[in-house]
Amino acid sequence: MLGFTVAIDGPAAAGKGTVGRAVAAHFGFAHLDTGLLYRAVGAKVLEGMTAEEAALTLQADDLENDQLRTNAVAEAASRAAAIPAVRAALVDFQHSFAMRAGGAVLDGRDIGTVICPDAPVKLFITATPEVRAQRRFAELSAKGAEVTLEGVLADVQARDARDSTRAEAPLKPAEDAELMDTSTMDIETAVARAIELVAARR
Ligand code: C5P
Repeated sequence: MLGFTVAIDGPAAAGKGTVGRAVAAHFGFAHLDTGLLYRAVGAKVLEGMTAEEAALTLQADDLENDQLRTNAVAEAASRAAAIPAVRAALVDFQHSFAMRAGGAVLDGRDIGTVICPDAPVKLFITATPEVRAQRRFAELSAKGAEVTLEGVLADVQARDARDSTRAEAPLKPAEDAELMDTSTMDIETAVARAIELVAARR
């Protein structure tokens, strides 16, 4: 029997990961941040591999790399993610994860539209680019990265534009996704609403 899947999509730094982890912890589901798959590919591209080869040879260990959170890797991930062969190479892993017994939460850009179109719960989490840039700036500065708010905003906007306009699996809400704007919502409220939705459909 298929597992119960919660699909969470949205742009960078909207709160997908935080909501996804909290929902998974609450219900005892497994959680996969699918952005890590693309980031792991992006990191290998920066080391000189082609994106297609990186996607085809990706190992679970590659997701543990603590350099995956940098802006350079995010940018390389977004470029690689526009290549259909890269996306195709990552589908089976995501399907297997979604179908595991015991339930799973997957967050990314195309989970509700392409990877798990039959997921019983789909959330699309957004926030304004300014709010998201502010969050990402705070996160990166706390880690000691030398970034400016303007620079982070420009990166976030460039990545949103590329992710939303690519031909293959563009970032967009599924027709039946519940929209959640976290621009003015605190994270506890967003988590509580997500948990309510999952509880109602379980
Ligand atoms: O979510 P995160 O910011 O880690 O994702 C990095 C990049 O990976 C995104 O900008 C996007 O281009 C790509 N991605 C994707 N599909 C997903 C998850 C991430 O195209 N399901």
